[in-house]
Amino acid sequence: MTQPLADVYLDNDAFAERIPHETFTLMRHQAPVHWYDWEYGKGFWCITRYDDVVAVLKDWRTFSSETGATALEDLDPDQIEARKSMLDTDPPKHSSLRAIVNKGFTPRAVAAYEQLLRDLTRQILDESLPRGEFDFVEEVAKQLPIQVLCRILGVPLSDDERLIAWGDKMIGNTDPDLGGLHPASPESAKYRLYPFRSPYAMELYNYGHEIARERREHPTDDLVSKLVMWEDEDGNRLTEQEFDTMFLLLVVAGNETTRQSIAHGMQALMDNPEAMQRLREQPDLMGTATEEIMRYSSPVIHFRRTATSDTELHDVRIREGDKVVTWLVSANYDEQQFPDPLRFDITRKPNNHVTFGRGGPHFCLGAHLAKLETRIMFEELLPRVSAVEPTAPASRMHSNFTNAYKTMPVRVTPA
Ligand code: HEM
Repeated sequence: MTQPLADVYLDNDAFAERIPHETFTLMRHQAPVHWYDWEYGKGFWCITRYDDVVAVLKDWRTFSSETGATALEDLDPDQIEARKSMLDTDPPKHSSLRAIVNKGFTPRAVAAYEQLLRDLTRQILDESLPRGEFDFVEEVAKQLPIQVLCRILGVPLSDDERLIAWGDKMIGNTDPDLGGLHPASPESAKYRLYPFRSPYAMELYNYGHEIARERREHPTDDLVSKLVMWEDEDGNRLTEQEFDTMFLLLVVAGNETTRQSIAHGMQALMDNPEAMQRLREQPDLMGTATEEIMRYSSPVIHFRRTATSDTELHDVRIREGDKVVTWLVSANYDEQQFPDPLRFDITRKPNNHVTFGRGGPHFCLGAHLAKLETRIMFEELLPRVSAVEPTAPASRMHSNFTNAYKTMPVRVTPA
């Protein structure tokens, strides 16, 4: 029996076991612009079809990021100002902030990291694989993105575990196991001016200040130096608020997400051993396989926009000020765009997924880097193992924002 629309449930717990694909299929088919009464505040519109998600992300004039792109909560003006990162701006402000960091993430700039990524990946696998049985998230997937990010930002490599812990506690604040502060808890009110209403955002800011102070005195060619030394033609520099939020954005966005594309890629290959074998035999499929891992994993489940004027979509009236949530994971499994969407198909083509956004100004800054990290991980891993199997079910984060594995116990057989 099909679920009635009134029963659509999208709280964090609905994502604890798996993505509730049947809920998104129902909305795509019966109510592509669906009003959701939210338990923690004013409700929001759910956009679930591929074409609509792309249209909303592109149309930043009607669907603005200025009042928050990540938080579903209704922010007061002081919260909006304090928490605003590049992600929460529209052009032209957005274009000038993005121009400061863009150069370091172009396909050309990223291609120059290839050898570094390969060396880091080999080191990670040299340490983990000989153990035979280990947690793939902890020992492998978590390690590569943070080590790369430490080098790009120019923060001490020995701080990687601290950065991971802060990111997990911020992003995983809706999960009971990760030690964060739940954003609906009364105590979080103290941190309402920090991203994710999190005390760990404050700690990360303080840490960023130390690094910034040091780089101002001894600039190098790393990204933190670039941020602290940046000046426009009128002599304006980044304010402390702009530095803090950019630093936090890079640490969180560059670390928590790519970890998940690597972890989901591993899970998908374990669930489809014939695909794992084929990829081992035909490494030239790695390009399409990486895109499919990106679509299938959809590490970010949704992003938010806010309507700047009354508008209509599929004959539904959206009012100025309404929150509009683009469910990327639903668009990535829209059968109108992706035939047999639940099938993991390493040869899928075309594969114009929205995992990194699509067409809008906020298209993921790190998309090329994330793809290269994920591709290199499997290029290096697969020739070294004849099998990878789960030894227990992987555990998932309670979150409707990140499609995240917390643990993934595996056993590997050397090739
Ligand atoms: C698989 C990994 C990743 C996924 C799924 C992902 C996803 C996304 C998405 C969907 C957006 C658009 C947000 C919006 O429309 O409001 C975005 C933006 C962004 N991502 Fe990623 N990302 C990933 C990896 C990375 C990496 C490695 C970095 C590197 C530092 C990064 C940095 C950023 C930044 C800075 C933005 C904001 C861009 C802007 O506002 O113009 N991401 N990401």
